[in-house]
Amino acid sequence: MASNITLVVGASRGIGRELVHQLSQQANQQVIASTRKPAADLADLDNIQTITLDLADPASIAQAASEVAEIDTLIINAAIGDNEQLLSTSAARLNDYLSVNVTGPLTVVQAFLPALKARKTRQIVIISSTSGSMQTQIGAKRGFMGPYAVSKGALNMVAIQLHNELHYDEGFTVVPMHPGWVATDMGNVCGPGAMPIPTSAEGILRVVGGLTYADSAKFYNWDGSILPW
Ligand SMILES: NC(=O)c1ccc[n+]([C@@H]2O[C@H](COP(=O)([O-])OP(=O)(O)OC[C@H]3O[C@@H](n4cnc5c(N)ncnc54)[C@H](OP(=O)(O)O)[C@@H]3O)[C@@H](O)[C@H]2O)c1
Repeated sequence: MASNITLVVGASRGIGRELVHQLSQQANQQVIASTRKPAADLADLDNIQTITLDLADPASIAQAASEVAEIDTLIINAAIGDNEQLLSTSAARLNDYLSVNVTGPLTVVQAFLPALKARKTRQIVIISSTSGSMQTQIGAKRGFMGPYAVSKGALNMVAIQLHNELHYDEGFTVVPMHPGWVATDMGNVCGPGAMPIPTSAEGILRVVGGLTYADSAKFYNWDGSILPW
């Protein structure tokens, strides 16, 4: 059996897809990739198991979790995001953000908890954003603000509450992480100049690879620096 099993949620494209590709090159690493639709191209690769789940569909998350017995590291990467203003956001749109970016990740953690508890590593990495940093958002003029920032701020609090509930008694390490400004479908909405996807994924995996129990509840940047809440 591989010495480390990592599940990446949201691996169809962008940062998640690159994380899966880079992980699959590592020795002793077994990768589980989740996508919304079956991903034949990923399933063909040797050490990648594929599952399907939609963050907005709890039944699909429960079904996917029933197919996975053990995980060392859970990386929740999937999200929606766009450049919108809060005052012009409808209740329905805000609920979409909260459903996919906040409730979805929490439901994933709840569903995959038995698989995480089946191993000793017990790492939960939640891909968040500096848009979710209260301090960084005051007076912010660039990047995604509005409802996306509201959802990522709530997601950071999910990470802190999961730390409180899982770190001390159950030995978990829970960290939110900003991937940087990255040239994906989402990142390119803000124009040119974002970093290449492989650079971000490499940084994220370097930080994940060095995580220890004492690092829980730190808000990480992709380069390993610590961000303000
Ligand atoms: N790119 C940046 O500059 C940047 C900056 C800060 C934070 N982030 C964060 O980094 C993470 C990855 O972003 P990205 O730039 O790689 O975005 P992306 O290219 O837009 O990819 C988004 C991923 O999330 C999946 N997804 C969306 N809605 C989903 C749902 N309901 N259920 C399951 N999966 C769903 C997508 O799957 P489908 O293909 O099925 O839609 C896709 O795999 C996100 O958490 C994002 O907020 C990105």
